[in-house]
This record gives sequence, structure tokens and C-alpha cells, in this order.
Amino acid sequence: MKFLNLITISIAILFINLAFASSVEKRCFKKKNKGFTRFSGDEVYSYEKEHIKTLASYSSECTVLLKKNGDFPLTKEDTRKVYLYGNAVRKTLKGGTGSGDVNLREFVNIETAFTNAGFEVLTKDFIDAYDEVYEKANKEFQEELNNNGGGILNMGAIMSEPEYDLPYVKEGDLAIYVLGRVSGEGTDRKPIKGDLFLTDTERKMINDLAKGFKKFMLVLNTGGPIDLSDLDDVKNILILSQLGVNTSNTLVDVITGAKYPSGKLATTWTKYEDYQTIGDFAEKDDTNYKEGIYVGYRYFDTVNTDVMYPFGFGLGYTDFEYEIKSSKLNGETFEVKTNVKNVGKYKGKEVMEVYLSKPNTTLDEPYQILVGFAKTDELKPNKKQTLTIKFKLSDFASYDTKTATYILDKGDYVVRVGNSSRNTKPCGVIKVESRIDVRKVENKLGDPGFEDYVPKINSKKEDLSNVKTFTLNAKKVKKETVDYDYSYPIAKEVKALTLEEKAKLVIGGYVEDFIESLIGAAVTTVAGAAAETNTLDGKLKPIIMADGPAGVRIAKSYFLDSDGKAHNLEGNLPESMMSLLPPEMLQLVDASMPKPSVNDTIYHQYASAIPIGTALAQSWNKEFAEACGDIVGSEMVMFGVNLWLAPALNIHRSILCGRNFEYYSEDPFISGIMASAITNGVQEHKNAFVTLKHFAANNQETNRYLNSSNVSERAMREIYLKAFEMAIKEADPKAIMTSFNLLNGVHTSESKELTNDILRHEFGFDGLVMTDWVIAMEGEYKYPNPSASNVIKATGDLFMPGSQADYENVLEAIKNKTLTMEELEMAVTKIYKLSKQIEKK
Ligand SMILES: *[C@@H]1O[C@H](CO)[C@@H](O)[C@H](O)[C@H]1NC(C)=O
Ligand SMILES: *[C@@H]1O[C@H](CO)[C@@H](O)[C@H](O)[C@H]1NC(C)=O
Ligand SMILES: *[C@@H]1O[C@H](CO)[C@@H](O)[C@H](O)[C@H]1NC(C)=O
Ligand SMILES: *[C@@H]1O[C@H](CO)[C@@H](O)[C@H](O)[C@H]1NC(C)=O
Ligand SMILES: *[C@@H]1O[C@H](CO)[C@@H](O)[C@H](O)[C@H]1NC(C)=O
Ligand SMILES: *[C@@H]1O[C@H](CO)[C@@H](O)[C@H](O)[C@H]1NC(C)=O
Ligand SMILES: *[C@@H]1O[C@H](CO)[C@@H](O)[C@H](O)[C@H]1NC(C)=O
Repeated sequence: MKFLNLITISIAILFINLAFASSVEKRCFKKKNKGFTRFSGDEVYSYEKEHIKTLASYSSECTVLLKKNGDFPLTKEDTRKVYLYGNAVRKTLKGGTGSGDVNLREFVNIETAFTNAGFEVLTKDFIDAYDEVYEKANKEFQEELNNNGGGILNMGAIMSEPEYDLPYVKEGDLAIYVLGRVSGEGTDRKPIKGDLFLTDTERKMINDLAKGFKKFMLVLNTGGPIDLSDLDDVKNILILSQLGVNTSNTLVDVITGAKYPSGKLATTWTKYEDYQTIGDFAEKDDTNYKEGIYVGYRYFDTVNTDVMYPFGFGLGYTDFEYEIKSSKLNGETFEVKTNVKNVGKYKGKEVMEVYLSKPNTTLDEPYQILVGFAKTDELKPNKKQTLTIKFKLSDFASYDTKTATYILDKGDYVVRVGNSSRNTKPCGVIKVESRIDVRKVENKLGDPGFEDYVPKINSKKEDLSNVKTFTLNAKKVKKETVDYDYSYPIAKEVKALTLEEKAKLVIGGYVEDFIESLIGAAVTTVAGAAAETNTLDGKLKPIIMADGPAGVRIAKSYFLDSDGKAHNLEGNLPESMMSLLPPEMLQLVDASMPKPSVNDTIYHQYASAIPIGTALAQSWNKEFAEACGDIVGSEMVMFGVNLWLAPALNIHRSILCGRNFEYYSEDPFISGIMASAITNGVQEHKNAFVTLKHFAANNQETNRYLNSSNVSERAMREIYLKAFEMAIKEADPKAIMTSFNLLNGVHTSESKELTNDILRHEFGFDGLVMTDWVIAMEGEYKYPNPSASNVIKATGDLFMPGSQADYENVLEAIKNKTLTMEELEMAVTKIYKLSKQIEKK
């Protein structure tokens, strides 16, 4: 265990494949092999084409037009000579970095996409010069990292955008500035120029171009918000986001009008100083979520901040008008119909959003919360569509910590409908005549050590006299009391296993050298997969896991050794990491990689990169999320992957979380809808399942291993657990991954309250619970490392990635009776059953 330090930790988290390797191609063929397919040769396979076609048909729905003046899309008369500026024109970003990256066959950048589409790009010299600036800055950055106590400690570190002074053309017909920001696993973003803020260079250039060019668009190729203050001269702003394989083509299509933006923000974009600072973020020790339930728009709308671009906001090329057609209450289900009309001159799609303002009779409540939405079909000018949106009131009950009950408090519930959180009309009032206890539970999550923030509200009296009022019949609400007794039927085949076999099964498949297990070298079947379960010397089929969520992250190229074991040709480490590795580590990694001989066939696994989670949520189109799941599921089947380590549905608590791009939104409802849809898409495929992650309160990258997220029971239940609950109830995900962080001083993986009581009993989850890739940290810390036996005791099932020490820990705990055989057998049964299920083709 001599590698148990930050080096190995970082490697574990970031085992992306190298992007640069190319290999000698052999003849093309496609070989079916025990249910999955091996591809070799140069040919682009039909599945790739089909998947790209599906993605391309939706991807512009993820783009959000923040500002427009009618100059776009281009008309036929407009010039096709374009000045392309900005750091992401050539270095276009398809997604973020870390385990969320995906290995593509090829990726076309924005410069090439414009050229391919017949544009003349007039800024090649500028981009060449920028490349030099970038390379120089990047070299200095890496040297600095290496000098500061070994670059490796800064794994996941990202260079902020450099300042430079290069000549550029200030006047002309058409200019587009594409601004990119990389972020990724391991490091949070920073409120500095070149990251959250524009650099001085960017600001000056953008303002000059906006003033001097007849048509100018600012395009944001970022995974999350940028502070866009003081850009008043810029009249056209598009969030392109990071859309996977078709990022660049989508931009060309949106600029030319072949496609149109129809996305809406799923996280508020405003000036940095507008975001709340009540709670801590990225502390060096524990992080206190003191803002409680006031996350994102729940905060802004309650304290009435004049945000720049509110939650749910997004323009189209065309304009829409909407009117409320009808509303009614049926039992406890509220239904509103709105007529949406395209009143502009382009085609488009509009989203209608339904919000609920709850009475603050005994609990303080945010001004409103999202409870439903729907998107129109494509509407031509003058066309209308009626959208129907329904929600069940008790699904949005508040959590009363004092009585440990989800309640519908006495009072008036105002339902609002509109096309952004700041542009709604009341469409109904539901009267609840006396408090309804919807679900009686127990407080389970411990004491955060503080009271949640409660905003001081200046109540604005609202005239609701013209709004239809409905009285809820309390009898129509189903009431429930949760029972926490746990037992899981143990399979008799499991009873027959030896203790050693049982202990092996609850630990991920590992090889002797821990570092090799970490980088996926224990995987024998699917090259570049993250891990697989133990097979008990071939008695069981391994359950094979691969990273996500922007697609299936596996090796692009591999070969088979004489034992039939697949080897990743590129190695399992990302290029960005390799450049930071000290030479001795590089050698180690290289030595651990077998090399093909001249006669070995090189096989390929080209996965499709789907839009990042944030972009997917911006589409407000669950059909698209399901289509993405379908793409992922079909590729899993093809390549023999069983568990996709995705979707990731943590809440955008702070815009600075480095991994937000993987996550959906600041709002749990839309997160839950998206996670459910993608889960349904994946799990339609036989033996392909999702792993929802990271459960729970994993909302920052800083010190995520051994620090505690301190959160109130109410905020956990209403904000941080809600999307998981929705996905479990609506889509039956097969697996869940716990988080690295602790919650109120307890490792989430070791919390029986979280895993057994809440997940399994309250939410009804009956699948597999695995840990994130735990690595024991050396040294003395306030909170000890999680242990495999504690995880099993908490009704977790699988300790990942696993090591000999973890295996021995389970044996020891059985021997000294801190873990019972029944507890172990329950976990083993779940793994055993899944393995048997997978075996049946
Ligand atoms: C999508 O991207 C692929 C790969 O870059 C490209 O070949 C294809 O033409 C694109 N399709 C569309 C419709 O943008
Ligand atoms: C938080 O994590 C850091 C880095 O691992 C560690 O140094 C610190 O002791 C931790 N804080 C607590 C309260 O455990
Ligand atoms: C929303 O609807 C209003 C009025 O119906 C309209 O003025 C506005 O442009 C629409 N779009 C947005 C993003 O607010
Ligand atoms: C409810 O809101 C009013 C102001 O609108 C405030 O005075 C009161 O304290 C709030 N009550 C609770 C329980 O938060
Ligand atoms: C590769 O195949 C050729 C032709 O079958 C054979 O002559 C040669 O010995 C093989 N080389 C190796 C290294 O196996
Ligand atoms: C977080 O909660 C734990 C458990 O209650 C407590 O020990 C710790 O001191 C808290 N951290 C902070 C910064 O308050
Ligand atoms: C039993 O074994 C486990 C695993 O090694 C260890 O963590 C625990 O402290 C031991 N308990 C006792 C009472 O010896």
C-alpha cells in the first residue's frame, strides 16, 4: 500500500484514456463474441452514424439564446466570410474533464465545422498566434505546478485563460467570438479572470467586435455560468454549452438558421456578487450548507434579486405568446392547459413551466418551486399548440423536521405558469383547509450543528381575485407511515459459498497492485472499463462497469492477449494527467501497459459523446434525455458493459463546483425528470443498467474525500435527495453510488440511515449500492477512512475499487463479530443475483 496518497487518489478519479494514440489498422471486420461485438478497421459503423443523427436532431434544443437583436440567424444574402475569434474556435470543448470524458472517433472543432459548411474563416493567422500564446502559458502553468510541491498534487488543476495582445480586425460584416472554459473532476472553478470572469483581453475584444461588426454573436462553449456583466454592447449571446460529438456542427446550424435554439436555463446565470454567500463553499474543512433550502432560484426569487438571466429563461429566434386556457383540480392533481402561439417569423419550440408558491404557515418557504413543465413540438409562425401540465400536490410536500413529517401545511397554494421563472401568471389557487401529514418518517441524517438560514421577506400582497380557487379534499391525499425494518431474502446459492468467496464478492475485482486496480487494469473483458466484480474463478459472470455521464467511457482501441484479456492501447490515463505525472509515475504507467505485437488485431470501441448533463437539462426535453439513454444503452450492450456509472444528479449548489457540467440543475425537480428519462432509455436494453451518483450532498470537488457536508435534514430531503427519490420511484434504477464526502460527520457509504432507512425503505430502492472509488488516505484525519465492513453493515453491497486490505477487513469483521454473516449474505445476494441475471442473455 505504498501508493496510498494523493497521487493514487487523483489517478483513480481521472482514468481517462489518452486521446492521441493512433494505431496500425488491419482489415475491417465485425465479430460477434458471446453477446457483444468486436469492431476493427477504419469503417464508420452504422450505429455511429445512427447515434450521431439522433443527437444532431436534438442538440440545438440544449442551446440557450440569452440576448438577440434579430441579426441572427444569417440570411442567404449575408456574407459567408466570417471572423472567428475566441479560445474555443479551435480548442472547442465537447465536455468537461475527468471521469466524465468520453473517447470519440473524431471531433470536429468550430473552425473546421465553419469551413466544412462553406464559410471562409478569415482569422486563421489570429488563431495560429493564439495557439502559440496558449502553448506558452500552458507550459509555464505546468512548470509552476511541478515546482509547487509536485504537479501531481494539483491533479485536475486547470489553467485559467491567459491575457494576450494580438492584432485583430475591429470592423466588418460578421464576427463570432467563441469563449470556452474547461472544468472538470478534482478541482472547483475560481471566481477569477480567465475562469468565472472574462479576461481583460476577452472583454476588450468582445466589446470592440460588438461595436465594429455589423453582425456579432458571443458564443459560450462552457459547462456552466460565466459572469456576463458589463457587456451592454453585445446584442446577441448564445450558450452553446458542450454538446458532445456535434457541438461544432450545432453552432454552424444555429448561426445559419438550419436549426434554432430552444433551450432554457436550468441554473441561474447572473453576476457573481448576486449568488448567495450564506453557506460555505470549498472550505478546507467541513462545508456548512447554511443556506438550507434556499438554493439557486429558490434564493433569488425569495429575496427578489434582480438576476441577469433567471432560471427557466431562454429566447428563440422567434417569439411566443401564451395564455391560460383552463385549470382544474382533480383529487390532488392540478392540471393547467396553456395555449402557446408562435408570433414571430421563424419556427421554434417553447417551454411552459409550472411553479408552486406554498404558504409559509409554520415553515418558511421559498417564493416558488418548479413542479412541472412541457415543451411544444416545432411550431411554424402563427401556429398554436395547447400544452397540458399536471402535478400532484403531495409530491411537493415540505419537510417538517420538528415532527419528522412531509406535510401540506394549511393555507393557499398558488400555481403559476409561464415561460421563465420570472415571467409567470397565476393560474389557480389550491386551498388546504388544515395541515395534512402526508408521510410520517424519522429524522435520520444527524445534526449539521447550525440552524438553516431563514430569509426576511417583504411580503408583496398579490391580487388573486381573478384566479380560480380550488379546495383540496384532504381525503384524496394518500397518507403513509414508513417502516424501517430491513431484511433481504438471502439466496440459498449464496449460503453455500465459502466465507472467502462471500467476502470477495462484496469487493470490486482487484489485482495485487492497488494502483493497477485503480486505473482499471483489473478489468479483463472490456478495455477501458472502470471495473468489474469478482468472478470467483470464473464461477460467476463479472458485472462490468464503465464511466459516464457524457456517454460510455471505455477505450478507443485495444487488442487481445493470448489469454483473451483486452488491453487498452492508449493506457487508462488522460493526456491532461500524463503531462502532470512525474517521470517515475509515467514509467510505472507505461510498464503496466502490455503492447500489441505486429500480428495482433486492433479493435475499436467508438462511443458517442452525448451533451453534458447541464446541456441536457437545458433542453427541457425528456424525450431527448431518453434518446440519449437509448444511445448509451445500445452501446453498452454492444461493448458488453452492464453498469453505466451515471447519470450524475447532484445539485448545482454553487456555480463554482468543478463538476457541475456533469450535473443537471440547481433544481431537484428537473434533475429528477432528466435522470429518470435517461435511466429509462438505458434500461430498455437488456442487461444495461444505470448507477445514479453521487449519493449524496457531493456538491464540490475541494477536499471531497475526508470532509463533511453539513446539511439540515430538511435541505437534504427537499433539495439534495429529492432527485434521487424521483428517479427511484419513476425509473427503477438498478444501482446507486454513494459519495466520497461525509454527511454531518458520517461517511455516506457507512450511513445505514442513508442507505437502508432512506434509500431502501423510504424511497423503495431495491438495487445495488456501491461506493465511489474509495482510496484509504494515509495520515491522521478527523474522520477515518470508510471501511468495507462498515459499508456492508450499513447495507451497502459493493466496496469499490477494492483491494486485498478491503477483503481482509471483511473477513476480520466477520471473525470478530462486528459484521454478521446475514449482513454479508444480504449484500452478496444482490451481487450474485445481478451476475446471474446478466448471464442469461
Ligand atoms: C455531427 O458530427 C459528426 C462528427 O463530427 C459529423 O460527421 C456530422 O456531419 C454531424 N452531423 C450534423 C447533422 O451536424
Ligand atoms: C478536510 O480534508 C483535508 C484534505 O484531505 C484535510 O487536510 C482536513 O483535515 C479535512 N478536515 C476535516 C475536518 O477532517
Ligand atoms: C415569454 O412570454 C412573454 C409574454 O407572453 C414574451 O413577451 C416573452 O418574450 C417570452 N419569452 C421569454 C423568454 O420571456
Ligand atoms: C411568512 O412570511 C411573512 C412575510 O411574508 C413573514 O412575516 C413570516 O415570518 C413568514 N413565516 C414563516 C413561518 O416563515
Ligand atoms: C506474424 O504473422 C506472420 C505471417 O503469418 C508470421 O510469419 C510472423 O512470424 C508473425 N509474427 C509474429 C511476431 O508472431
Ligand atoms: C459538521 O458536522 C459534524 C458532525 O455533526 C461536526 O463534528 C463538525 O464539527 C461539523 N463541522 C462544522 C464546520 O461545523
Ligand atoms: C473488528 O474488525 C474490524 C475490521 O478489521 C475492525 O474495524 C474493528 O475495529 C474490529 N472490532 C473489534 C471489536 O475488534
